[in-house]
Amino acid sequence: MQIVSEIEPLRQIRRHWRQNRETVALVPTMGNLHAGHLALVERGRQQADRVVVSIFVNPTQFDRADDLAAYPRTPEADQAKLAAAGVHCLFAPTTATIYPDGGLATRVEVPGIGELLEGASRPGHFTGVATVVCKLFNLVEPELAIFGEKDFQQLLLIRRMVADLNMAVRVEALPTVREEDGLAMSSRNNRLGRKERALAPGLHLTLREIAAQLDDYHSDFAVLQELARQRLTDRGFQPDYVEIRRQRDLAPATADDEQLVILAAAWLGDVRLIDNLMVG
Ligand code: PAJ
Repeated sequence: MQIVSEIEPLRQIRRHWRQNRETVALVPTMGNLHAGHLALVERGRQQADRVVVSIFVNPTQFDRADDLAAYPRTPEADQAKLAAAGVHCLFAPTTATIYPDGGLATRVEVPGIGELLEGASRPGHFTGVATVVCKLFNLVEPELAIFGEKDFQQLLLIRRMVADLNMAVRVEALPTVREEDGLAMSSRNNRLGRKERALAPGLHLTLREIAAQLDDYHSDFAVLQELARQRLTDRGFQPDYVEIRRQRDLAPATADDEQLVILAAAWLGDVRLIDNLMVG
């Protein structure tokens, strides 16, 4: 596995692969890798000749300085996992490489999808995500980029950006990888204390219960959402949102919609967890 932190060596590697007519899959990450990330890598190995994984804790997508500071950084363990997974290139740039001279004048904004749910709770978050993913696409020039449904709104946002700006990359999505007790794998899980970790599966459990009750409530989504919030509170969470939306564009679901997704964000102590469940 080649490890590069600068742009020019990355471009050289890419040029070399292109000369050999090799296809490239990119898996963008912020590191602290777990089995969810590695499932994306494995998919890349199957779908392309070469796999690039980027690790960059992107400051512009954090709306809180304490969250950025507390984000787990485990470079040695990450490198070992990626090498064992058969990754060809790890791109791990510094902040100064991605944001020279302190920042960019250009931003990628995706209004609409970028302003709902996570976008409403975390102002600026999705502009940071879209901008850095656009840069990573321009740097790596992958034929394929792979994302997780764990961050379902992020996935839709990237798809919309790629479509709107005619980016020459195919976006693929993989289902959420979970712990045995149902908790969606996430780098933030490491920050849960023992008590919170025991409560954490209640988020996924609540989503499943609500999904199972959709028919009983004859699409009275407002009542179900309120019920879900109450259950989360009873299970020790401070809910941020629980929303039943249509999968296509995350607009509020109506009784006519068949492809739904239930999305939730909730705090356990000072850790904010998100999860979602596809229905239909
Ligand atoms: P990060 O949170 O590291 O996630 C990297 C990728 O792994 C994302 O596509 C995410 O959806 C996926 N992922 C995370 N947990 C998963 C799980 N349990 N199962 C399946 N996939 C999972 O998302 C980001 O980083 C950043 O916003 C990024 C796109 C890299 C831009 O900075």
